[in-house]
Amino acid sequence: MYTGLLHTHSGLAYLVLAALIIVIFWALFGSLTGREFTERDRKLALVAFILSHVQLLVGLILYFVSPLGLQLLTGGGAMSDPVARLTALEHPVINIVAIVLITIGYSRGKKLTESRAKFRSIYMLYAIGLILLLSRLPWMNWMA
Ligand code: HEM
Repeated sequence: MYTGLLHTHSGLAYLVLAALIIVIFWALFGSLTGREFTERDRKLALVAFILSHVQLLVGLILYFVSPLGLQLLTGGGAMSDPVARLTALEHPVINIVAIVLITIGYSRGKKLTESRAKFRSIYMLYAIGLILLLSRLPWMNWMA
């Protein structure tokens, strides 16, 4: 179960990051050109939203199964070791905050009425979310 979850989490990460980058540039371009926000724009933003939520769910399960998650946090010593602290605390907490921001960006974008404001809500909050995600990925484990 652990290996399957880790592979899913690792593979989904590519899709989440790629979808976020595409949506950010798409929305930024939409805003700069001043065009109308359409249903297609909302659906594209929704794809990145859904992928990040699936990743959140897989990550949460992984946290309880992985030796680098809760087990490490409760095992003692994780706080003083930067590598252990990353997967046991910083990566999960910061990534949850990032996904909350992405959720706000999408929901606000849906509710706002003006097209430029819709695009702005999406590209701004998705971009802050993406920066947070990138800042706390366990790159060493992922690229190993
Ligand atoms: C969009 C959000 C997230 C992304 C892009 C992401 C990405 C990643 C990546 C690339 C890895 C390294 C995988 C590997 O070694 O092959 C990883 C590991 C991990 N992630 Fe996430 N993650 C996200 C959210 C979360 C959340 C919300 C949690 C927990 C609540 C979580 C828990 C973990 C744990 C415990 C590991 C270490 C697994 C292990 O090596 O045993 N992740 N994550």
